[in-house]
Amino acid sequence: MIFTVAIDGPAAAGKGTISKAVAAHFGFAYLDTGLLYRAVGAKVLDGADPVDAARALSPDDLNADVLRTHAVAQAASEVAVIADVRAALLVFQRDFARRSGGAVLDGRDIGTVICPDAEAKIFVTASAACRADRRFKELKARGNDISADQVLADVIARDKRDAERAEAPMIAAADAVTLDTSDLTIEQAIAKAVALVDAKRT
Ligand code: DC
Repeated sequence: MIFTVAIDGPAAAGKGTISKAVAAHFGFAYLDTGLLYRAVGAKVLDGADPVDAARALSPDDLNADVLRTHAVAQAASEVAVIADVRAALLVFQRDFARRSGGAVLDGRDIGTVICPDAEAKIFVTASAACRADRRFKELKARGNDISADQVLADVIARDKRDAERAEAPMIAAADAVTLDTSDLTIEQAIAKAVALVDAKRT
């Protein structure tokens, strides 16, 4: 059985948590595509050329703890504007999406560019203030030394770069259902996403 769930949206909207839960619910494989761009960003911070880094990426590169840092998130957003970086990462994502047994991919351009034919598409969003607050708490809990104002400024800058780039900008696909998590608990958001996917399976 081939069934692709495309989940897109801005940083800290709840995409990752929702995607993992949807994958677990249906027994589908899960790919956090942001990790691909983060792994390239981390290599660039270490001095690599972004396109070479993207072409040489291996699954082992996706496990490093450093990928979750704020500096790597910013670097990821910067390398993500480069067309050749995106092209180098495309085939891996498409193959993953069409694997047998079902797949959930989360990112920015899954429903629009990577898997325009995905069986289910959800655009997960929340207000910038709400997302910055969630991300700030997450970073603090991990020991990052950063202010709430800085996190909000970075969330806004990253949204702008992700949404305004020429290559595969972050945008809801015309046939995606928007799920705004600003006023939802995580359980409520997951339940809505599971119901949306379930409706596409019947
Ligand atoms: O989802 P994330 O925060 O881990 O993503 C990090 C950056 O990678 C994000 O700012 C934009 C980029 N990205 C992208 O351009 N396309 C994707 N499918 C996933 C992430």
